[in-house]
Amino acid sequence: MLMAHVVPAGCQVQVETGRGRVLAAAGLGAGRVAAVAGLLVGRQAHRRLRRVHGPRRNLRALLTSEFHFLPMDLFISKVMPVARGPLKFFNPRNRREGGRENSKITFVTESKGDGGCDVDRMKINSLTINSKKYLSLTVEYIQLALQYKPLNLGQGFPDYYAPENVTNALAAVAKSDNPLMQQYTRGFGHPRLVNAIAKFYSKLINRDLDPNKEVLVTAGAYEALYSSLQGHTNLGDEWIIIEPFFDCYVPMVQSAGGIPRYIALKPKSTSGTVTSGDWVFDRKEMESLFNEKTKGIIINTPHNPIGKVFTLDELQFIANLTKKWNVLVISDEVYEHIVYEPYKHIRIATLPGMYERTITIGSAGKTFSVTGWKIGWAYGPANLLYNLQVVHQNSVYTCTTPTQEAVAIGFELEMERLEQPDCYFRSLAMELLPKRDYMAKFLREVGMVPTIPEGGYFMLANWSALENKVKLHEETDENKDYRFTKWMTKNVGLQGIPPTAFYGPEHKTLAEDYVRYCFIKKDENLKAAAKILKKWVS
Ligand SMILES: Cc1ncc(COP(=O)(O)O)c(C=O)c1O
Ligand SMILES: *[C@@H]1O[C@H](CO)[C@@H](O)[C@H](O)[C@H]1NC(C)=O
Ligand SMILES: *[C@@H]1O[C@H](CO)[C@@H](O)[C@H](O)[C@H]1NC(C)=O
Ligand SMILES: *[C@@H]1O[C@H](CO)[C@@H](O)[C@H](O)[C@H]1NC(C)=O
Repeated sequence: MLMAHVVPAGCQVQVETGRGRVLAAAGLGAGRVAAVAGLLVGRQAHRRLRRVHGPRRNLRALLTSEFHFLPMDLFISKVMPVARGPLKFFNPRNRREGGRENSKITFVTESKGDGGCDVDRMKINSLTINSKKYLSLTVEYIQLALQYKPLNLGQGFPDYYAPENVTNALAAVAKSDNPLMQQYTRGFGHPRLVNAIAKFYSKLINRDLDPNKEVLVTAGAYEALYSSLQGHTNLGDEWIIIEPFFDCYVPMVQSAGGIPRYIALKPKSTSGTVTSGDWVFDRKEMESLFNEKTKGIIINTPHNPIGKVFTLDELQFIANLTKKWNVLVISDEVYEHIVYEPYKHIRIATLPGMYERTITIGSAGKTFSVTGWKIGWAYGPANLLYNLQVVHQNSVYTCTTPTQEAVAIGFELEMERLEQPDCYFRSLAMELLPKRDYMAKFLREVGMVPTIPEGGYFMLANWSALENKVKLHEETDENKDYRFTKWMTKNVGLQGIPPTAFYGPEHKTLAEDYVRYCFIKKDENLKAAAKILKKWVS
């Protein structure tokens, strides 16, 4: 696991355990460089340490001014910002020897005559990364919605009641005669919930999951992604990311010291009826991204924002490459139950030889339409989940008990009736299908070209035929889709999301003609959206 801390140029940093063992130290690059201190908890750590830094006796201990002398857990939870430089520390054996309690971390720093580094500067430097550039799209667009009060088809959640069975369960938990329902529960997941999740997925992936070791409950799928990437990234590790991507993947990779390598889905056709299945990655290009530095690939199926449900052949192609290069897969499957006939969701963990290298991520928010509860999970082999548990334990520690209990009840109820059409895991897609088709129809009627999604509840639409109706010059953003969506919010009263936010720096132009709308909205609001657009173009 990597921990990051920003340190001024000219410093050397090293980390020691309570046993006085120097773990690692490395020089800094020239110029204004920040450094990264990290811990790697896992079997690979010791070997990697030697490979990256050479034998430990070559590590130079320099002037020692004590920076922190904290128990390791505290260090992990305190020191977590963005990685920016060439220093990396590994803790090879600590975990296995059970020496956590008496392990200590000491920062040893040296001044190289440029004013050097002192504790205060280190602290200040670690805060200055917090510039506007790092604020997410969502934060900015929620602000815009508050100000202009448009009809909001931006964010991905229903504007109507969540299914009664889960909300009733939560209400009952609040009044439960078991006083412990309102208190801390097991850190890696409330027992009733991990049992339900293990039972559910054991059935779906045809393998017996150990609820205590192969399931982790997190603060939304978001934290499962974060813990996966923090827990499994060493400095310089490459993660392959398919564009467009859920926008937190990249900062999460970077804050763990990793490097995103991008490959874009591109539509085979852009006129007539376009479906999410038309968006494909180039296989040669995908192959060329894998190399010795690859740590893994992040996939998202069903996909946000395109709605693509990856095919068996596509997943097998990716699986083959991950096996060839012996790398990981993080499979973000939060929309797993929202798939439209005749398409089928395929879990990459079920392909031969893939379970052992895959962390699969799910979300109660998306599964039960309760995004405000922020309960998610990861499942996968115990040795991979271990690193996530360490990150989780030292950041979130434990998720809320009542919501976990209620989600567990939701799973138990739905598992009973998996084969029935009223099972929520089936009925949700059936409820969304007419909304999808209605949105596609009105977008077409106003002259946009929608991509019909095979799954999920987002729709991309090419709005470029309407460009002459938008005063793009009134907005200042670099990318046209940002200008379009902001102008529409302010002047037409309809908010969508600019999809270039879901691309790396190189490929943004691929998405500038598009807007993303969400259709898990009340029929009356979808009708209102249609009306707004039709009035605007007429
Ligand atoms: C692809 C994808 N992954 C993860 C998440 C986050 O899920 P959660 O709300 O459970 O944190 C979202 C939410 O929009 C998403 O679209
Ligand atoms: C709630 O759960 C019960 C018991 O499984 C089921 O009969 C009922 O249909 C569910 N209600 C809804 C609205 O799905
Ligand atoms: C994946 O590898 C298997 C075994 O080598 C091969 O049979 C299959 O064709 C490959 N699939 C794809 C899509 O590349
Ligand atoms: C969007 O649609 C226009 C035609 O209306 C087309 O020329 C353009 O290539 C499309 N954009 C993309 C990125 O596909």
